Amino acid sequence: MSELEAVVGILGAGRAGTAFARALLRAGIAVDIASTRPPRALQHHLKIYAPGAEPVLGADVAARARTSSGLVILAVPQEELDEVDPDWVAGTVLIDATNTWQDELLPGWLQAAVDEQLPTSMALAGRFGAARVVKALNHIAHTEFDDAAQPGAELTQRRALAVAGDDDDARGLVMGLLVRMGFDPVSVGGLAAGRIMEPDGPLFNRPLRREDILRFAR
Ligand SMILES: NC(=O)c1ccc[n+]([C@@H]2O[C@H](COP(=O)([O-])OP(=O)(O)OC[C@H]3O[C@@H](n4cnc5c(N)ncnc54)[C@H](OP(=O)(O)O)[C@@H]3O)[C@@H](O)[C@H]2O)c1
Repeated sequence: MSELEAVVGILGAGRAGTAFARALLRAGIAVDIASTRPPRALQHHLKIYAPGAEPVLGADVAARARTSSGLVILAVPQEELDEVDPDWVAGTVLIDATNTWQDELLPGWLQAAVDEQLPTSMALAGRFGAARVVKALNHIAHTEFDDAAQPGAELTQRRALAVAGDDDDARGLVMGLLVRMGFDPVSVGGLAAGRIMEPDGPLFNRPLRREDILRFAR
């Protein structure tokens, strides 16, 4: 991903999506970001929470990313996922930054996976079958994101974040992005291994170093 061609799409312009956008923009990566609101209605919100991010329609979130970084971050509450058209992100590497919360009424396909105690990213990989799903960025709180992203620091001094994905190339792309954003990415294996990143897992919302994550990786 060169400086000139780097555009990342983000679906969801709430607490998480705008925190990711700020770190990307600080790293010199352009951001196209979508919410339920039309782009014009999102402009004021972005001026405050992610100045420099480009508001787009959900349907256009991957338009520039697809031909540059290839990456789109999913930062929409899981209860809203039926409203996200899988075609919007077809052909991308889709970073699943979402989490399951008990107060959310989940789409049937996702609730079925939760009932079977499957990692939710595996259900997302089925739903968004034309994208390569990688789980990342879900286990750090937006309130800690700005300070935790330290692109100027040595890798060993940075906060470590886990990455899980079945496709090696896709996982590598996401790890490269996290390095640019200022983290120390650690592969924990395939999507099935991403279970340890979920809210009831040992990695969730903990300030971790590489060795802490490796202790739990398969
Ligand atoms: N908050 C955190 O610290 C954090 C950190 C990591 C991961 N996460 C995960 O990220 C997800 C989002 O959390 P959040 O805290 O950012 O939620 P949030 O503050 O409520 O923001 C949700 C965003 O998603 C947008 N959205 C909803 N339906 C959409 C759709 N169909 N198409 C496009 N955008 C849509 C909303 O649009 P409108 O603005 O138009 O309503 C809003 O911008 C959750 O699964 C959460 O667990 C959160």
